[in-house]
Order: sequence, then structure tokens, then C-alpha cells
Amino acid sequence: DLRAATADLLERARAQRPAGPRPSLGLVPTMGGLHAGHASLARAAREANDVVVASVFVNPLQFGDPADLERYPRTLDDDLRLLGGAGVDIVFAPSVADMYPGGEPLVRLSAGRMGEVLEGASRPGHFDGMLTVVSKLLNLGLPGTAAEYHAYFGEKDAQQLAIIRRMVLDLNFPVAIEGVAIVRDDDGLALSSRNRFLGAEERRGALVLSRVLHGLAEDVRSGCTPDLDAARATVAAEAEVDLDYLEAVDPASFAPVAEGALTAAPVLVVVAARVGAVRLIDNVLLPTV
Ligand code: PAJ
Repeated sequence: DLRAATADLLERARAQRPAGPRPSLGLVPTMGGLHAGHASLARAAREANDVVVASVFVNPLQFGDPADLERYPRTLDDDLRLLGGAGVDIVFAPSVADMYPGGEPLVRLSAGRMGEVLEGASRPGHFDGMLTVVSKLLNLGLPGTAAEYHAYFGEKDAQQLAIIRRMVLDLNFPVAIEGVAIVRDDDGLALSSRNRFLGAEERRGALVLSRVLHGLAEDVRSGCTPDLDAARATVAAEAEVDLDYLEAVDPASFAPVAEGALTAAPVLVVVAARVGAVRLIDNVLLPTV
């Protein structure tokens, strides 16, 4: 019982420093296949909380493509080692039947308009399924009112993070959502559980994504107007890479930002592409001038 286990650890933290601040709980939801990006979330949670819970659950509700669900990496032994190494106290790894005891949920959340653009346009229903499981995980982790509650999500999945923030705002979830910076390999590629499916040539081609994003941010820094069409053309010219979108959006609402307004307010540039059998996403927040 997850709630009893966390309550127990929170109670012990409280007993250790009765006069101190209320013990806090950090939750780190994942789907496993863990890498240094996930470890960074777990460490951020560890640094800021008394008790840290991570979840490992491949959520069928957020997969449109059965083949993608089927081959999604399941590496629980390695995941437990990584999470233990990052200082996580409790790992919650439920089965599909544990999470959905009533079978397919009838009552679900909808991300509305934010769930229909960009990633949502390419993956219909994905964000609704994601929100449904995240709300369940947030509720399962929910500590008694004595504790502060934080949940950690990566900026790599920027649209997911924005939608979760919006859910918490719209539905008054009693949790603080913390965004954690993207972790990249030395060559710039954003870490992803799906990178393991890239061949050597594909991996080399995939670097164009982080390269063009970095270039756009550099343009702003050096006083040039970032040229999204030129960035799209650079991605399209890469043989291994099939561009889905490269767009400038408001980081909170994911509404499109006009090309002329790229340097006025904080603007996020988001990109998605298919590389071989893998769909990759990345993003950068343009500096403001
Ligand atoms: P998953 O893809 O396993 O990612 C779990 C968390 O790790 C997400 O918050 C994601 O943004 C973060 N993450 C992944 N790669 C990262 C990187 N390179 N740098 C920083 N953070 C990174 O996202 C999900 O699972 C699911 O949708 C979930 C929220 C668990 C709901 O099922």
C-alpha cells in the first residue's frame, strides 16, 4: 500500500525533527527504461524532500500505436538500481490491473485544445491518457495534509509539463509541479528511452534537432532574428530525419507565436521528427533580449 508506506516514512521524518518544517513528499512519475534524464528528476526530488517516491508504469492509455506500447523498454531491475542510486525511498511499479482495476477507465481527463496541437495532433488521445494516469499517480501519492507535496517532470516533454501545470491550475490538485532541465548526451542529443532504437547513422542524423534549436537560441543572443524556415529546411535536408513540426509557442499555453514576436516574451521552440522507427522531440526556450 503506497499511501501507508509514504505515510510511515513521513511520520518518521516528523518524529526526527518535531520542531522543524513539515516533512515533504516528492513524486517522480516515469515509464521506466530509465536513463540519466530520469535520474536528474529523482535527484532534484531527493534534494528538496524528506520522502521520495518514484513510479514505473508503462501506461497503455497514452499509447496510440500498439507496436510502440509492445516494444517500449521494460527494464525494471536496472530501473530499481538507478532509482536506488539516486536516493529514492519507495518505487511504485504497479501492474496494468493494479492501476486500472475496473478495466479501461470510463471517466478520463481531457487536455482540451492544448492536447490537440503539435504532439497531440500526431498522437491523438496521447495527452488525455497521460493526464488520466498522472492524476491517478498524484492522487495515489497524495500525502496527509501534514506534508508538502511536489511532483517532478522533465522540460524535455514540454507540452506534457505545460498540460500538467494547467490541469493542476484548472482542477486544484494540491501539489506543486516542478520542471527539471533537459539532460543531454555530450553530443547534444536529448536523452530518451527510445534513443536505444536508433542505428548509428540515425543517431548521427538526429543531432540536427538539438543543433538547429541551439542555433536559434544563439541567433537571439547575437542580435539576429531567428529564422524558423531556415531551421526547418536544415532539418528536412538531413537524410535520416523526417520533420513533423518545428514551431514557436507560448511555453504555458502552447499557443503559436508570430514569427515577428520571437524575441519579445519568453518563447519556446518545439521540434518533433521521425528518425528511423523512432519519434524524437526536443525544445529550447529562446533567450529574451
Ligand atoms: P517518461 O517518458 O518515462 O518520462 C518520465 C519523466 O522523465 C518525464 O517527466 C520526462 O519529461 C522526464 N525526462 C525524460 N527524458 C528526459 C531528459 N532527457 N531530461 C530531463 N527529463 C527527462 O513522461 C512520461 O514518462 C509519462 O508520460 C508519465 C509522465 C510518466 C505518465 O505516464
